[in-house]
Amino acid sequence: MALFSKKTDLAQIQADLSRLPRHIAIIMDGNGRWAKKRGLPRTAGHAAGAETFRTIATYCKDIGLDYLTVYAFSSENWKRPEEEVGAIMGLLKKYLLEAIGRMERDRVKMEFFGDLSPLTSELRELCERTREISQHYEGCQVNICLNYGGRDEIVRAAQAFALDCAEGRADPNHLTVDRFGGYLYSKGVPDPDLVIRTSGELRLSNFLLWQAAYSEFYITDVLWPDFSKEELHRAIAAYQSRDRRFGGV
Ligand code: FPP
Repeated sequence: MALFSKKTDLAQIQADLSRLPRHIAIIMDGNGRWAKKRGLPRTAGHAAGAETFRTIATYCKDIGLDYLTVYAFSSENWKRPEEEVGAIMGLLKKYLLEAIGRMERDRVKMEFFGDLSPLTSELRELCERTREISQHYEGCQVNICLNYGGRDEIVRAAQAFALDCAEGRADPNHLTVDRFGGYLYSKGVPDPDLVIRTSGELRLSNFLLWQAAYSEFYITDVLWPDFSKEELHRAIAAYQSRDRRFGGV
């Protein structure tokens, strides 16, 4: 279901970059189908997807987006063949090593949403290092969802809150939506204004269940490795044409 399917150049797409959404979140779907269409292994689709992520993350920083959150690996993705899981983890490692190398130049703040404990110690340490080095950067913040599941995030938050109550640091009578948000991986990050999903599927797939309560959605048939700056502009233009009422009139 392409909302805007006509191919055109950047300048013709009516996205106003002077009033960007603050936070864009992306479900980067369709790597496998992209590879299949070309007779390539699925892992080639993920490698192409990682390139697209680089291009889009850099572009988001360049246009002045405050927050970008991407779904890189869900808590359900462990069910995939070992070779495919290994390839995705390898691409993440490659990306993080590169990111560390150019951090002082890019000044992108990086965070990770998800339970990193089942990752290899090497990948965990890389995530931690990337996070630490970039903590003081104030430009674009890129959040990589890694071994992430929205329901799991909410359950963990509930457990942490229950523990705070049991140990006298919190009071259930004073729990508010904002306070509960402080127990989520996304603590301190505004909710996504726009959620983009590539490859045409009409579902949320356990992504940012709490945070996407009032997000605008943009679904495109374009497969993630083919997603481009033009497609991003189309998504932003669609967002800017929406009337956000947050339950009001
Ligand atoms: C969904 O496509 C994609 C994933 C599960 C993995 C996303 C990973 C990357 C883009 C590469 C690594 C990321 C970074 C941040 C460097 P799919 O495999 O479900 O595609 P399909 O639905 O067509 O099979």
